[in-house]
Amino acid sequence: MRFTVKKGGLEDVQAEVLIVGVNSGGKRLRGAAAELDRRTSGALSKTMELSGFSGELKEVAFAPAPRTGAKKILLLGLGDMAKLDVAGLKDAMGSAASACQTQGIKSAAVLIPTSRSLHALEAAEASCRALVLASYDPGLYKTDEKERKKAPLSRVGLFCEAKNSQAALSEGAARGNAMAEGVLFTRELVNRPSNELTPRIMAKEARTLARSPLVRCKVFGPAECERKGMGGLLGVGQGSAEPVQFIALEYKPTRLPKNAPKIAFVGKGITFDSGGISLKPSANMDQMKFDMGGAGAVLGAFKILSLLKPKVHVLGYVAAAENMPGGKAIKPGDLLRMMSGLTVEVNNTDAEGRLVLADALHYAKQQKPDFIVDAATLTGACMVALGEYACGLMSEDDELVHLIEEASKLSGDAVWRLPLSDLHRQKMKGHVADLKNTGPRDGGASTAAGFLSCFAKGARWAHLDIAGMVWAEENRPTEPKGATGFGACLFYSIAEAAAKKA
Ligand code: BES
Ligand code: MN
Ligand code: ZN
Repeated sequence: MRFTVKKGGLEDVQAEVLIVGVNSGGKRLRGAAAELDRRTSGALSKTMELSGFSGELKEVAFAPAPRTGAKKILLLGLGDMAKLDVAGLKDAMGSAASACQTQGIKSAAVLIPTSRSLHALEAAEASCRALVLASYDPGLYKTDEKERKKAPLSRVGLFCEAKNSQAALSEGAARGNAMAEGVLFTRELVNRPSNELTPRIMAKEARTLARSPLVRCKVFGPAECERKGMGGLLGVGQGSAEPVQFIALEYKPTRLPKNAPKIAFVGKGITFDSGGISLKPSANMDQMKFDMGGAGAVLGAFKILSLLKPKVHVLGYVAAAENMPGGKAIKPGDLLRMMSGLTVEVNNTDAEGRLVLADALHYAKQQKPDFIVDAATLTGACMVALGEYACGLMSEDDELVHLIEEASKLSGDAVWRLPLSDLHRQKMKGHVADLKNTGPRDGGASTAAGFLSCFAKGARWAHLDIAGMVWAEENRPTEPKGATGFGACLFYSIAEAAAKKA
């Protein structure tokens, strides 16, 4: 998709469709939209009247476009403009993109809506990101071309009523485009079946990120993990024929200011979670290919970092393994010696994510970052608590929580804090070892975080449980059914927030 910033007025736009936002609160057609309505002798207001269009968020209606350079106008509901945020605008633009796609429209001009809280740059960024993401086709293995999604919008012109907004529009478009590219990278990885994305293939994908001169990538195989004492990662991987991989990424821009922060992102990279000997039921087990969603988010974030080059030093770690019930698999009750030196009784082999993350967190801590954030499809309990509406955020560091919450508002990816304290850690005390890997059923997201906290001890750290966020059960405005790519933008936004704070 190519974005260009337009200079002239809306009336001389040359495009198949002109996308114009409509407010639902108070006066629906304002400013340039009202102007356009006059020019087209009321085409917009007539269409609204005939179709009962009220401007509700994500509502769309096509209108004729006489006396303009466009073939038609797409009215796009924005809800109450005074309340419009990044998440809402993304959804609305996603609906507009789908409406264009079903009609085979290739070129569009978009009037970027702004409000008191949403300036031209953020609005352009959210809009462009959404237009690209809505056009994604998950049918990557379909051999029949006719079964693939129709070619999406390819040329998009951007306009804005706000004065002197051209530089903001082009920066917003570049940012939105880069973020979408990162999310698409994550989606593609998460959508891949586990035989097409083994830990080794994931490592290969990570290495492609190092094509950027600002990114480096190192991969440790089983022998190196053994030397480092990564008993958690090796233990989880030992029931599978696929060797474990520990992926280490580093993003370091040129001319990094001395006071720039150094932060670390950690991702759970279970390419398939069968549960191991504590085997999962077969219904929906196929979905467990998405259990590397945290790893996918780390890789997607590095893609965005390499494109937008913010002034921050970022480390990325992925512990990748396949959780299988092979003859050598760990069994319930088995003992693991972790990289940190702590011992763990595995009372359930299906609580494997925390075992691989424990080593990755310990490794990250040794690199002495200013703070660590991990993302993992860690618990069904978090999914029950928060559903697809927000990811769980657990940390005992209020300042870091605040930074992540602010970053999440800017990127439009919802987070919701869940409790974490000594109470949760206590439930994870082992019988014959320091720790056991599962606690009671209730409060499962927090006790899992309590387990992780024992390995992040001494570092500033926050945990994101993204179990409910990585997969869409049905089509959504910017997310076709399947992998959502959640986490890539949120991680990136956290990195930017850290850079700004320094
Ligand atoms: N990957 C799963 C968590 C999960 C389940 C994510 C369903 C998304 C959808 C994780 O490895 C797991 O199996 N967790 C167990 C932990 C339990 C055994 C303590 C769970 O949540 O049931
Ligand atoms: Mn599991
Ligand atoms: Zn898992």
